[in-house]
Amino acid sequence: MPSTDIFHDPQRYGDMQSWREEAIALHADGPIHRIEAEGFPPFWAVIGHDAVMHVERQPALFTNEPVPVLTTTEAIAIGEAQGVQIRTLIHMDRPDHTEYRRLTNDWFKPASIASMNERLDVLSAEAIAKLEAAATNGVGTIDFNTEVALAYPLQVILSILGLPEDDYQRMLTLTQEMFGAEDPDLQKGTGSPEDRMATLLDFYQYFAALTADRQANPTGDLATLIANGEIYGEPMPDLEKMGYYVIIASAGHDTTSATMAEGMAQLAQHPDQLELLRNDPSLVRNAVEEMLRTSSAVRHFMRTATEDTEVAGQPIAKGDWLMLNYAAANMDPTIFPDPMRFDVTRANADKHIAFGFGIHFCLGAQLARMELRSLFNALVPRLASAEIAGDATTSKATFVSGFKTLPIRYTLTEA
Ligand code: HEM
Repeated sequence: MPSTDIFHDPQRYGDMQSWREEAIALHADGPIHRIEAEGFPPFWAVIGHDAVMHVERQPALFTNEPVPVLTTTEAIAIGEAQGVQIRTLIHMDRPDHTEYRRLTNDWFKPASIASMNERLDVLSAEAIAKLEAAATNGVGTIDFNTEVALAYPLQVILSILGLPEDDYQRMLTLTQEMFGAEDPDLQKGTGSPEDRMATLLDFYQYFAALTADRQANPTGDLATLIANGEIYGEPMPDLEKMGYYVIIASAGHDTTSATMAEGMAQLAQHPDQLELLRNDPSLVRNAVEEMLRTSSAVRHFMRTATEDTEVAGQPIAKGDWLMLNYAAANMDPTIFPDPMRFDVTRANADKHIAFGFGIHFCLGAQLARMELRSLFNALVPRLASAEIAGDATTSKATFVSGFKTLPIRYTLTEA
């Protein structure tokens, strides 16, 4: 009998091989599962690919409010007692969500972010230069996670917000504390709700100064849009500006880092797939979709039913809490045959829902794809071989998780 603790136990997300095997076994028992776990309100784990899309298609019936991420009963109570919560796009439903998303939606459209490609190619070249510098006669060992995967997307965040490169360390600490809140190595203090709030306050101070600057000196960056943003024709309230910065900075970082590292790990574990890519670099585009599918770095979001309804034949009561588990849905064997297989030629790799679906579909999806394509387009022709060299370590978190270290031994071809 497969265990349903994979949904709520952060430790289980530290070993995604066994996690995925268990998720695939659960698919045989149906697309939706009732979870009653100590310390959490009961919830439904929705794992079927179609079932997740069914929920996402009906944002009025399944809302993001009041609690869009799996949270302990204790933390929910503390949040309610504190009253003031930072609201981000992901906490909002219509009509607010439409109004707030409108502010930056166009900025993230392909035509508008195409200008980022030049910067991405510079960052990709820097990543290759790191591998070259760590190699002797083309052979080297590097912690790919720390040296490449963590650094690259954070540099992109600094670029889109128009922040100086010197702020790298500060932003790294803040985003890791935000997302690693269940992991003792990454969290602030003991990871208590108070410590989480302290992390948010760090963000607050940092971005208050940024807002003041961009109001005085507007530029073309995303920070300028947020700092001067109007909602329903009025200046956006300060707390909501913070929410906006927080979601851009945090949602755009660990997620993309985790996918880059997982993609590299997949190539290291599947030399035949690396070979295919080396022989036909046009496959990189599809390989990136397969990396997104198999990594599914954002493991879940939660929804709350506003009416009695049903999902995949299962009656759902008004007020029920549902977990949309993207990592499990992307392992749905009815959609992705032999789902554990990493296959850069998989015909429907891009059917994954690693970026979600519907009105909350990832705002940065196109940017994340551009980053991954730029990196692997630069890397694949140079990477003669790669293998995992020693013990990789992983973060333990139910929301976003991935490698903490990924030692790779590699051989580079001549430039
Ligand atoms: C591989 C990298 C990424 C993954 C796997 C990912 C995944 C997701 C997922 C699953 C959602 C929720 C979708 C839903 O509820 O249906 C989401 C929302 C969001 N993502 Fe991403 N994301 C990634 C990269 C980025 C980047 C680079 C940015 C921005 C720089 C970003 C910004 C956002 C924002 C702002 C939202 C909230 C959208 C809304 O509620 O309307 N993400 N992302």
